[in-house]
Formats: sequence, structure tokens, C-alpha cells
Amino acid sequence: MASLGISISSVAGGRPMRSLASSPSCSNNNKPFASLHATRSLESSRAPFRLEISYDRRFSAELRRQPLAAARSGPVVAAAEPEPMKIMISGPPASGKGTQCELIKKKYGLVHIAAGDLLRAEIGAGTENGKRAKEYMEKGMLVPSEIVVMMVKERLLQPDAQEKGWLLDGYPRSLSQATALEDLRIQPDLFILLDVSEEILIERVVGRRLDPVTGKIYHLKYSPPENEEIAARLTQRFDDTEEKVKLRLKTHHQNVEDVLSTYKDVIFKVNGDAPIEDVFAEIDKALSSILDKKSRTDSASMAAGMSC
Ligand code: AP5
Repeated sequence: MASLGISISSVAGGRPMRSLASSPSCSNNNKPFASLHATRSLESSRAPFRLEISYDRRFSAELRRQPLAAARSGPVVAAAEPEPMKIMISGPPASGKGTQCELIKKKYGLVHIAAGDLLRAEIGAGTENGKRAKEYMEKGMLVPSEIVVMMVKERLLQPDAQEKGWLLDGYPRSLSQATALEDLRIQPDLFILLDVSEEILIERVVGRRLDPVTGKIYHLKYSPPENEEIAARLTQRFDDTEEKVKLRLKTHHQNVEDVLSTYKDVIFKVNGDAPIEDVFAEIDKALSSILDKKSRTDSASMAAGMSC
């Protein structure tokens, strides 16, 4: 639902003194509209008045999308900016979560939140949590929830993730982590599960390299660096050995069913054995359809709101 409010205030020395008039926006069942997202001021240096027009983000989208003639001539049929998407991606170690997240982020602008990256950042910063986390990561075990849960919750609730939508990678990985999100009423629109056979996973882990400058993920065989300069600076993760990936896989198998049962209604299983572009094409189709559905739902509720 969109809102438009107008207020005129007297101005002294550029600062508003008191509100002279205001026009409350259309409301439904006396419920207030969405919070104010933007304010534009027109202030004349000669006139002692300030005209403020406030509108929410969906009203702004409405104005941008309506052809002028249509807007002048009758009821507005809304074409709303959809609510941001909330996506989870899961799969065994090296199934391609990070690789697909880069592509999803690029196309859909979602905020990528990777539990493993948050933990590695703590290790890099030398914090107490980082030191504890590393002990577990070296054994291929899940880092205790008291470290991970708060870290992910805080990141998810930051304004950029709320505004643009989020792509949660490698979280939740246990029933208690999933429950922590459920308690906050945080639910995904889609839970992507990458399905990859075990022999392939080991080869992917051992050949994986990271570019510390760009953060890009490479594979010596499947996704080699573009030039010698990049090749020379690539690094390998401390847990990317055959021995450690076997432990990580075991941990994954012990926990995955609990997580899947939490999200059974929104699971989208993708064959992750396929080439990177083919895996992305599948995911892309599913995400476009979610966006489309959200857009239609929002448009319908906006149209209902505008007719009040
Ligand atoms: P984390 O960093 O999340 O590791 P992971 O789950 O083991 O997954 P990876 O990051 O290894 O792989 P990926 O699926 O992202 O694959 P990628 O795209 O890089 O977690 C590390 C540790 O942190 C855990 O073991 C745990 O200790 C701790 N932790 C993390 N989250 C936690 C949580 N929620 N709770 C508690 N502890 C937690 O691809 C791999 C390679 O394959 C790359 O080289 C890539 O180029 C290549 N590749 C990708 N896709 C393809 C393809 N389709 N074809 C060919 N090659 C491909």
C-alpha cells in the first residue's frame, strides 16, 4: 500500500517552527501506512514556508511506472516494486554455494551473508570468537551456536539486508539455528539445496583457490584464474584438504535432514553437478518466478489501497 503526505511548516532561519497544515494519507481500516522512506523539501529563500512532500518507496515506484496519460485519466493500476527477496542456499562443502551466490548477487542485488565468511572475518581479526571458531572449523565441526547465531542475526537485521533482501549462505546448519530464525519470524521465500555427488566435492575442495583482492572463487581446473598476476596471489583455505572435507561432509550429513524438515515447503533442489552456468540458469528461473509472484501480490494490494 502506498502513502503520500503533504505538510506546510513555517520556517525561521531555515528551521521549521510549527506545522501549519498537513494532509494525512489514505488509510485502510484506520491502519497507518508504511513508514516514511523519503522526504523532499522545496524551500524558497524568499518565502518563510517549507513545503514537504513525503511518500513511501512504493508510492515513488508507482509514480515512476505510471504513464502520464494513464495517471491523469482515471484510477491508477499499480505496478509495485516488489518486497525484497529472502533466500537461503545450502549444500555440502564445495557444492558451489559461494559461486552461485556471486551470480545471484550480481543479478538480483541481494545482500550475500555467508556464515563461513563471517567466521573467517572473526579469525582474521584475531577476536576471541574467531579463535574459538577456528578450533571447530579445523575439525570440520559446526562452530557453537552461541557464536554463530548472534553473528548471523545481527547481520540479517542490518538496514542493507532489510532494504535489498538477503541471500543467506551456509546458515542455518542445525535445528537450533533454524529455530533461532523461526523465533524471530525470519523465513525464506526459497531454500535452495545444491545436490552434488561426493567424489566431485572432494575434487572441488582440493582445487579451490581464492583471490584475496577481489574475493572471487576460482578452481584450478574448472574455473582457472584469468591471468598470471591473479594466479600468483591466489590463496587456499586452511580447511580445504581432502582429510578435512571428509569431516565437514560427515557433519553436513548429520545435520542436513533437520534443517530440510524446517523448510520443506520452500525447498528447491538443484543438480549442482552441472556446469556453473547451467546451475545458475535453474536458480535464475526459480528466483525470477518468485520476484514475479511478489510483484503481482504487491500490485494487487497496492491497487486495493489506492482505491480507498
Ligand atoms: P563454509 O565456508 O560455509 O564452507 P562449506 O559449507 O564447507 O562450503 P564451502 O565454502 O567450502 O563451499 P561452497 O559450497 O561455497 O562452494 P564454492 O562455491 O566455493 O563453512 C566453513 C566452516 O565454518 C564449516 O565447516 C563450519 O566449521 C563453520 N560454519 C559455517 N557455517 C556455520 C554454521 N551455520 N554453523 C556452525 N558452523 C558453521 O565452490 C567450491 C569449488 O568448486 C570452487 O573452486 C568453485 O570454483 C568450484 N565450483 C563451484 N561450482 C562448480 C560447478 N558447478 N562446476 C565446477 N566447479 C564448480
